[in-house]
Amino acid sequence: MLILGIETSCDETAASVVKDGKLILSNIVLSQTPAHKVFYGVVPEVASRAHTFWLLPIVKLALQNAEVSPNQISAIAVTQGPGLIGALLVGLTAAKTLATVLDIPLITVDHIHAHIYSAFISTDTQLPAVALIVSGGHTALFRVNSYTNIELLGRTTDDAAGEAFDKVARMLNLPYPGGPSIQESAQNGKPNAVRFPRSLLDSESLDFSFSGIKTAVLYHLYGQDKKGKTAPLKETVSDIAASFQEAIVDILVEKCKRALGQTGYKTLIVAGGVAANKRLRERLQTEAEKHKFSLSLPPLSLCTDNAAMVAGLAFHLIKNGKTASLDVDAYSEEFSLGE
Ligand code: KG4
Ligand code: ZN
Repeated sequence: MLILGIETSCDETAASVVKDGKLILSNIVLSQTPAHKVFYGVVPEVASRAHTFWLLPIVKLALQNAEVSPNQISAIAVTQGPGLIGALLVGLTAAKTLATVLDIPLITVDHIHAHIYSAFISTDTQLPAVALIVSGGHTALFRVNSYTNIELLGRTTDDAAGEAFDKVARMLNLPYPGGPSIQESAQNGKPNAVRFPRSLLDSESLDFSFSGIKTAVLYHLYGQDKKGKTAPLKETVSDIAASFQEAIVDILVEKCKRALGQTGYKTLIVAGGVAANKRLRERLQTEAEKHKFSLSLPPLSLCTDNAAMVAGLAFHLIKNGKTASLDVDAYSEEFSLGE
């Protein structure tokens, strides 16, 4: 079964053709980063307009690269939420139109669920598993019982880890998106130069909190009154980047280990934009060898937003009879997955 997937939840315009939930025939991702970079973050209105401009050419390219014609497609899959509502509506409306014109089923997919599924496209991931989804908008841990049966274990009580990377990069005058630029700067820094707080590690809770570390970095840079310190900073930008990155990685790794301990599961999936972080990947690999669990890290192209994960997951949803009606609406909030 060939499924065309569409993803427009944030600032990537993406389309992909996937066969039987596993074989990627094409995976086109247009990053809008150049359009948002000047604002140091994603501007929703700019994102919606860019999706409107680019989506149909990207869909066409995905079909061309897959060497399939529209009438060979069995279903259209699209991200329904969570995400930026205007951006989601562009993808959803295009998907409804294509499904109507081609007279094939529409399947709506949860963005976080699709991130979890990215581990099953690329690697031979065993179930049951614990999944950490860590991106610019989300940080949450799940118990994954099957492709479609997922339970929430814990989530951030404030910001997402990726958001903290983006905001701290801004404080350090590093370019947007913050994750890759902090990672690069951190390569020349000392991870133990400053001890930033590791929030919520003193309880058994699997929830996260990342707002405190942003404030801690801000106070460290500018002092409590934000007017600037009288004495110049002892550390370099790279030292602060490395120390911040280390604190985030410590929190993520520790919570994953606790989730594995609490569930007794032996497989860990880590996906979402921040899962592209080299230091996080290294540390997880070391822990996996030490504690004998199996680690599933999708390749970088499937960690950040893409439509292959949408088309892949849709194959299992359609097999379970989960098609959508044409009056389905987009949702912006992360409210229902696994609860
Ligand atoms: O999954 P994604 O593409 O979009 C969302 O659903 O949010 O994730 C984007 C986030 C951004 O916050 C970006 O800074 C972060 O992922 N990111 C990284 C890295 N690459 C992207 N964070 C840390 N290290 C990276 N190498
Ligand atoms: Zn995402």
